[in-house]
Amino acid sequence: MDNSRRVLVFPTVDEMADFMVNQWIELSWCAIQKKGHFAAALSGGETPVPFYRKLVEEGPKLPWNRTHLFLADERFVPIDDPDSNYHLLHETLLKNIPLPEGNFHAVVTDSPDPLSSAGRYEEEIRRFFMPGPEGIPEFDLIMLGMGADGHTASLFPGKRGCLKTVHLACAVDLDNDRHDRITLTLPVINNARMVVFLVSGKAKASALRDVAEGRDRHLPASRVKPGEGRLLFLADAEAAQYLAANHIRR
Ligand code: 6PG
Repeated sequence: MDNSRRVLVFPTVDEMADFMVNQWIELSWCAIQKKGHFAAALSGGETPVPFYRKLVEEGPKLPWNRTHLFLADERFVPIDDPDSNYHLLHETLLKNIPLPEGNFHAVVTDSPDPLSSAGRYEEEIRRFFMPGPEGIPEFDLIMLGMGADGHTASLFPGKRGCLKTVHLACAVDLDNDRHDRITLTLPVINNARMVVFLVSGKAKASALRDVAEGRDRHLPASRVKPGEGRLLFLADAEAAQYLAANHIRR
């Protein structure tokens, strides 16, 4: 069995958030000690909100001036739209911490179309990481959620364009969704030093079982396998309810 797909289960989302705060503190100081900065990509959705709020509480103790934040994905909407991940992050985290303005690397959505926004985001990522013309940046941490359909970031089932690509960011046209999206591509996610999934709620229980137990290897969340980095699945009890006992991390 692939041990990295064993899930760490918490009674509540709040307890999962507490654990994640400790991970963040450790990872950020460790990265800063090693190379002077900590670069993380964060997700939207409801699950990480308690974590963002708890990070604010830790605020003064954290090295924000050496921390760089990116988004794992974004909706192609104005930044003050309630569906914008930037908006969510701003309201729950950014406006409450002393992160220098230049340390947040937004997906700019005032471009003419999602493709140009993806291109601009890719340039921003290249400017920061300077990975070389064909290199892939190495995020210290990418935090992901999971949808009931097995999507993660904005990598959706049936949308294969962002899975095998030389691009770092890509635009996603979702037929049934109100908004187009911009997402980090799978090669970038799989090159991170650490990828953490935060999964909550009973609606995700089947998808989490399929991904963690390797029952459906085609789901986008199943394709997340950091080559050199660590993979960690965190879930609340509701999301974990269908997991076989040997797939739960003790
Ligand atoms: C987003 C992310 C998406 C999210 C999952 C889980 O919504 O911005 O693209 O991948 O992480 O849909 O969302 P919940 O945390 O709300 O369940």
